Amino acid sequence: MTLQIAIDGPAASGKSTDAKLLAERINGLYVNTGLMYRAVAGAAYNLGIDPEKNPQELVKLLPQWTLEYRLDNDANKLELFFNDKPVDNAFLRSKEVSDVVSQVAAIPEVRDWMLQKQRDCAKLPIIIMEGRDIQTVVLPNATYKFFITASAEERARRRLKQGDFKDGTTLKEVAEQIKLRDHLDSTRAVAPLKPAADSLVINTDNMTPDEVVDKMVEHMQKNPRQ
Ligand code: CDP
Repeated sequence: MTLQIAIDGPAASGKSTDAKLLAERINGLYVNTGLMYRAVAGAAYNLGIDPEKNPQELVKLLPQWTLEYRLDNDANKLELFFNDKPVDNAFLRSKEVSDVVSQVAAIPEVRDWMLQKQRDCAKLPIIIMEGRDIQTVVLPNATYKFFITASAEERARRRLKQGDFKDGTTLKEVAEQIKLRDHLDSTRAVAPLKPAADSLVINTDNMTPDEVVDKMVEHMQKNPRQ
């Protein structure tokens, strides 16, 4: 039986760091579904498609595209390939892509196209899948569900520290971008961001990633699967 751990939460809550660290601790495979949406958003951006005004232009290209997580040579990590090429992480995290990714992720056909690809990853033995709708839509029967949050101010500080910004970007500007994406993600009609009823919600404002992972591991030990 596979062990599926679903981790969701708002932008820059630290969930990627926590999910990666958890994967290392328990020897699991980490899947970042945000990066999958970013790959599609990056392709749309490169083609000059406006996902808000012309979503159908993007939708009609989906059947020609491939997107898959593949095991690396040592079979201990997954790497994302778009149209058979490894994705460019720096580009996918840039402001240009961040500005359009939530519009791309709100297109129902894009979410449909993603769903089976994400469920296929979850067939691997120990999977830690991170995103916005993993516990509610993609893997509603996941073995464990965690919802990672932090205040908007703390999240803006964390994102600015990551340094994917042009020089001179202020905390206020980052906070505004994050709030806009939170709003788009939690109010969209399809698969909005929210914790599942049986999720453990962790507010990480005053916690280090190690402490967050300790809490997740403790929860799993206290609740062994049946
Ligand atoms: O790293 P950060 O939390 O800023 O974002 P991300 O995890 O890279 O996700 C980027 C965007 O993709 C989110 O703001 C959502 O709009 C979308 N997304 C989604 O709709 N569903 C998911 N399962 C994952 C991401």
